[in-house]
Amino acid sequence: MKPKVIVYKKLPEDILNSLKQVCEIKYYPDSEDHSIFLHDLHDAEGMIGAGMRIDQHFLKQAPKLRIVSNVSVGYDNLDIQELTKRNIMATNTPDVLNETTADAIFGLLLITARRMAELDRYVKEGKWEAPIGENLFGVDVHHKTLGIIGMGKIGTAIAKRAHFGFGMNILYHNRSRNQKAEEQFHATYCELEDLLKQSDFVCLMTPLTSETKHLIGLKQFQLMKRSAIFINGSRGQTVNEKDLIYALQNKLILGAGLDVFEQEPVPKDHPLLKMNNVVTLPHIGSATYETRYAMAKLAAENLIKGLKGLCPPNLINQEVMRK
Ligand code: 8YV
Repeated sequence: MKPKVIVYKKLPEDILNSLKQVCEIKYYPDSEDHSIFLHDLHDAEGMIGAGMRIDQHFLKQAPKLRIVSNVSVGYDNLDIQELTKRNIMATNTPDVLNETTADAIFGLLLITARRMAELDRYVKEGKWEAPIGENLFGVDVHHKTLGIIGMGKIGTAIAKRAHFGFGMNILYHNRSRNQKAEEQFHATYCELEDLLKQSDFVCLMTPLTSETKHLIGLKQFQLMKRSAIFINGSRGQTVNEKDLIYALQNKLILGAGLDVFEQEPVPKDHPLLKMNNVVTLPHIGSATYETRYAMAKLAAENLIKGLKGLCPPNLINQEVMRK
C-alpha cells in the first residue's frame, strides 16, 4: 500500500509524477487552509508544501504523519518541538535558493535607493516632461555602508554582491561570527546598535524565531541614520510594522524595501502601500522558474527518503533519526 501524501503546494508536473511512483497523492495546490483536506489528514503519512502552520492543533488531526517537507528554507510555520515529540521528521530546502534570493534582495536595495519603482510609475503616468530635478534624485549604493542582520548563507551571498559588485563597506550582526564573510568580503562583525548607527542600508535576513520576532522596532529605527534605507528580506514578523510606519511617516529613516509583511498577502489598504519611499514586493525572494523547481525537487527528495525510513538530506530535527 502506497503511503498517502498531502501535496498542498502547486508542484511541477514531473516532480508530482515522481511522487506518484511511491505515494498515493492527494493534491490541493496552493491551499492556505487545511480544512479542505481534513478528511485526508487522518491517514496521511506525509505532507509537502510551504507556509501552512503545522502545530499541536494540526498534528492532533494527523496521527499517522511521519514527515513534513517544507518547500522553503524558512520553517517558522512548523512547530519543530511538537513534531519532534511525535517523532515526525521536518525538512526544508536550503542552499538551492541562496543566490536567487540574494539577487532579489540586492535588487530591492538598488530599486529603493534609486527610486526606480516610483520613477517607473512617474514615466508611465506621463509625468516626465523635462529632465528630472533633485526632488526625484536617489541615493548612491556603491561604496556606502551595508549592515546585514543575519549573516547566514543568503546574507553571505548578499555581502558577496555588495563587496565585489559595489565596493560597499559591510557590517554584520549574527548569532555567531562568519569567518567566510570576514575573510572574503571584509565584513566587520559588530553589535546590533553599532550596525544600526553606522549603516546607510540595513538589510534584515534573519530566520523568524522567538528571539527575532519584532527584532526591529521603534528603538532600533531611532538609532538608524535619517538617511538610512531599511530592507526586509526575512519574514514580516521580524519587524514591528507599526513602528516601521511611524519611522517612515516621521522621517526617522529615508525609505524601505520590503519583500515580506506581517500579513501575506498584505492587505490592499495597508499604509505601507501608500508611501512613495517604500518599495513593496509579493515575497519573491526565491521566485524564479529555476529556483522554485530546484526547491520542489529537493522537497520531494526529502519526502521520499523520509517515507522510506531513510535520513532526508535536509532534516531539521535530527533527533528523530536517533530515536
Ligand atoms: C518561499 C521563502 O518561497 O524559502 C523561504 O523561506 O521565504 C521562500 O523561498 C516561501 O516561504 C513560500 O511560502
